[in-house]
Order: sequence, then C-alpha cells, then structure tokens
Amino acid sequence: MEKPKIIAIYGSPRREGNTATLLKKAVEGARDGGAEVEEIVLRDLKMSPCLEIYGCKNAGECRLKDDFQTARDQILAAQGLMLASPVFFYTVSAHTKILMDRFQSLWVKKYWIDDTGKKSPSAERKALFISVGATRGKKLFDGILLSLKYFFDVIDMKLWKTLLYRGLDFEGDVLKFPEYLDEAYEAGKEFANTLKV
Ligand SMILES: Cc1cc2nc3c(=O)[nH]c(=O)nc-3n(C[C@H](O)[C@H](O)[C@H](O)COP(=O)(O)O)c2cc1C
Repeated sequence: MEKPKIIAIYGSPRREGNTATLLKKAVEGARDGGAEVEEIVLRDLKMSPCLEIYGCKNAGECRLKDDFQTARDQILAAQGLMLASPVFFYTVSAHTKILMDRFQSLWVKKYWIDDTGKKSPSAERKALFISVGATRGKKLFDGILLSLKYFFDVIDMKLWKTLLYRGLDFEGDVLKFPEYLDEAYEAGKEFANTLKV
C-alpha cells in the first residue's frame, strides 16, 4: 500500500518554540505510523501577503510569483495537513495568515470561476491543528477556529483533530508537560493510520 502523504506546516516565527516542538512530535508519530511527511517552515519562505489586486480573477492563479505556488501545490497534493500556529492576538501568526490569505486565489477559482465551491470536501483530506497561547481564557482559540473553518473549506480539508494548549509562553515551556508531547506524538501516529483507510 502506498504511504499516505502529509504536509506539516510550522507557522510560528520561533524555530524551537512550543508549537514547533509539538509539531515535531506529531511528525515523528506520523512517520512511525507509516506516513510520508514533508515539512514547511513558513518563516523560511519568501511569501508576500495578498495584495488584493485580484490578478486571480481570470484563471484562479495568483499573479504574485513567490514561494506560495510551491507550498500551495504541496498542500493540495497531500491527503493530510498538520498545521501548527501560536495564538497571536487571538488569531494565527502573521506567517500563517499570509499563507491563508494567498489561498484567496483558490477561493476565487472555486466560487467565482468554476462555481464548485459548495461541493462537499473530499472525505480523505484531513487536518490536524496544533496551537498554544500564553493565557488561559475560555475563548483563547475561538478566533483561530473560526478562521480555520473557512480556510479548510477553501482547501477541501476537514478538521480531524485539534491539540490546543493554554498557559505556554516562553520557548521551552511545553517541555515541562511531557504529556502534551506524548499526546502530539500519538495524534500524529493516529493521523497517519486514519489516512490509510
Ligand atoms: C505578537 C504576539 C501576540 C500574542 N498574542 C497572544 C494572545 O492574543 N493570547 C495569548 O494567550 N498569547 C499570545 N501570545 C503569546 C504566544 O501565544 C505564546 O508565547 C506561545 O507560546 C508562542 O508559541 P511558539 O513558541 O510556538 O511561537 C502572543 C505572542 C506574540 C509574540
């Protein structure tokens, strides 16, 4: 059987931060679970924010040519997406948001050009989302989850599981909670297995 393909996206500017540490564990778990995992570190990419020029109106193709096109193709080719972003002002990090906004070109293709937007997403494409924030409020992840609902709709992904941790601020804070790391590893492994069926 062919290995399921997963794309793992590191959305924090910190390379060794809390979300990166958790995502690395999930990647390890997914590989142990038999998936082929490609990793994208958003801070290493050259990606302009969406300039809202709607160059995509003709063919659904973004007119800004940078690392977005490669990232988009990797994301669309994968059966699974593991995305990790910290909470920044109750939404995702700027790096993550830039990537999301550039997918407006796909939204234009689906809703304005092809008119296929309302079709239900393929059951096989699933996403695992990991996030952390420093505070502990009940609504800490509400903004992000609402954004993601609409983003995943555009890229035909279903949110399979979330790993959301409160009270983590400084680099390395997550290491004080080995149970979170275990949970991320197990989630990655289970994710790989879910994608196989
Ligand atoms: C620009 C910025 C905005 C932040 N906004 C929030 C916030 O709205 N709520 C919160 O609880 N923590 C906030 N934080 C704290 C981060 O979520 C926290 O430090 C987290 O552990 C960072 O994850 P990382 O190590 O994966 O980058 C913010 C941090 C930064 C740098």
